[in-house]
Amino acid sequence: MELKNKKVILAVSGSIAAYKTAFLMRLLIKAGAEVKIIMTPAATDFITPLTLSTLSKNPVHSNVSSGEGWNNHVELGLWADAMVVAPATANTLAGMANGLCNNMLLAVYLSARCPVFFAPAMDLDMWTHPATQNNINKLQEYGNHLIPVGHGELASGLVGAGRMAEPEDIVNMLAEYWLKEETEQDLAGKKALVTSGPTHEAIDPVRFIGNRSTGRMGVSLAEELARRGAEVTLVTGPVSIQAKGKNIKTISVKSAQEMYEASIACFPEMDIAIMAAAVADYTPKTVSATKVKKKAGDMSIELKRTKDIAYELGQLKKTGQITVGFALETNNELENAGKKLKKKNFDFIVLNSLNDKGAGFQHNTNKVTLIDQAGNIEAHELKSKQQVAKDIVNYFAKIKKSSES
Ligand code: CTP
Repeated sequence: MELKNKKVILAVSGSIAAYKTAFLMRLLIKAGAEVKIIMTPAATDFITPLTLSTLSKNPVHSNVSSGEGWNNHVELGLWADAMVVAPATANTLAGMANGLCNNMLLAVYLSARCPVFFAPAMDLDMWTHPATQNNINKLQEYGNHLIPVGHGELASGLVGAGRMAEPEDIVNMLAEYWLKEETEQDLAGKKALVTSGPTHEAIDPVRFIGNRSTGRMGVSLAEELARRGAEVTLVTGPVSIQAKGKNIKTISVKSAQEMYEASIACFPEMDIAIMAAAVADYTPKTVSATKVKKKAGDMSIELKRTKDIAYELGQLKKTGQITVGFALETNNELENAGKKLKKKNFDFIVLNSLNDKGAGFQHNTNKVTLIDQAGNIEAHELKSKQQVAKDIVNYFAKIKKSSES
């Protein structure tokens, strides 16, 4: 299997399976990869850093700061084409799933923009515990790739699931992943704009009007477009998540006006614009330069309409450009979404109904129906936002392909 010129971080946590890491590293190097090693302090009890640094011909990182000074976890995270956590103990999985950052492995994990693979290794009961299974589900929801555990005799003497996958299987999985990535570059050379997240409309220096959008749908779309070769500009309102991918340029904005300006500026060169942002429809008419003080009695804030980015882009759209919008509806869903599709001149619209459990804001899942100008309706099941992003991008790729042929 070929891993030529791939840069891999091999991250080792403290399990008896760490002995397999030396074989794994040799296989990775033999397949053409460059490997850098990170170990948790507990992993050094199972295999020595000297063994791994000698085999990898690179120093082993274990702590964020060491005798030689501060180890740059961000640099390491950006250097890699993939991070492989093998073995991944229950403790390390929990740290990854919950954003802990008390060692170098976790710091690099949080900073890494590359795909992350994890090969769990633990005893049967730890493996089947709901806490472990929840953490694994969470990691998969973040887009990390599970390397399935093996079944057999465990170090404890128990027999069952929990063995770390064999080094050959891990290398094969990486090679297959990259092969698939390379063959799935159907959007190479295309430029995509994604608007995402909420907007914050200032009332005064400390207060704003906002909404509960997390930006997860927009991030998943940006990542899927970039994964398939598109050059992505993600214009995002204030969110706590970040898109990962080397082809994604993120422009952070706050207000609807800033989002409008950033989107209009880059739109002429775009092949596609997906408006996933929850843009405020109204903004305070005046913004107080100083903090508004409370007074006796009620108060009201006068609001004015913001610019409708989707509508404006729909007007500017030239032949060959595709615009896609979202509609979040509570009633008469198809009819309302159809009206928005026409009014904003979208090529297709993604409808999510607030009546569907697990759809819309603040969920990791979404249930969407795609409706196009020709009246085609494609209803999808409840899926993860990553999977929904794939469906939307597939729809775009299909339209683009048929318009080009
Ligand atoms: N949109 C936009 N700029 C705005 C408002 C909305 O680009 N100022 C985009 C959204 O990103 C989304 C679509 O338009 O793609 C949603 O349309 P909209 O009419 O705002 O939907 P709702 O907010 O659900 O509208 P309404 O409250 O009228 O149902």
